[in-house]
Amino acid sequence: MKVMAINGSPRMAKWNTATLLEKALEGAKSAGADTELVHLYSLRFSGCISCFGCKALNRKQDAVCIVRDELEPVLARIRRADAIIVGTPLYFLCETASTRAFLERLCFPCLKYSKDMLSIFPRKIKTGLIYTMGASCESAKKLGFDRIFETTRNTMARTFGHCELLTVADTLQYPDYGKYESELFDKEAKIKRHREIFPKDCQRAFELGARLVNTILLDSDL
Ligand SMILES: Cc1cc2nc3c(=O)[nH]c(=O)nc-3n(C[C@H](O)[C@H](O)[C@H](O)COP(=O)(O)O)c2cc1C
Repeated sequence: MKVMAINGSPRMAKWNTATLLEKALEGAKSAGADTELVHLYSLRFSGCISCFGCKALNRKQDAVCIVRDELEPVLARIRRADAIIVGTPLYFLCETASTRAFLERLCFPCLKYSKDMLSIFPRKIKTGLIYTMGASCESAKKLGFDRIFETTRNTMARTFGHCELLTVADTLQYPDYGKYESELFDKEAKIKRHREIFPKDCQRAFELGARLVNTILLDSDL
């Protein structure tokens, strides 16, 4: 069984999103899966270019993006995976630019332009979506961030049949708050939260990864 994690943060090593995805993959591995972590910012690719090759009546394959760039082999591996976990920081109340580009290329070819707009992805697979954000839980709630997360979660669930959401708020933004403009933040509180709460967030990510695999195993027993 193969679980892939897709990191949509430009920070590839050991920052919030990458760390949570690594934990999710550790969870998946502990439940018996093979794992792979892909960093979108190490690849050169574009979003959907509206060529409609995936909707052409004479297309060779269903649910396949025909754009040829460095995302193509990743999308091909996703077609064979049993679960995928996409992680992204929130940038201006949205996924990062590369995450959006990736999601367009991943989901649009699976959307059939029929009256019911059903997904034509060949299988049902488990997916997870992890958001990290600088805002506190209270601000995120007050500003209605849930609606943003739910929109993408719905697209993933409609495309693949299942999508779990994990949100991680009030993240540490830089290693040393003394070196950057930080008036907006209570730096002591940020560091305390990173020390005390972030490990619990990592545990939730681990459990998400393990749960996706265990659900697949359970489904295959039925
Ligand atoms: C360009 C940019 C835009 C951001 N916009 C938001 C935002 O709209 N809301 C928010 O809560 N945090 C925002 N943040 C903070 C990041 O979402 C947060 O620090 C995230 O955890 C970073 O993930 P990383 O450590 O994996 O790179 C922004 C950060 C950057 C660099």
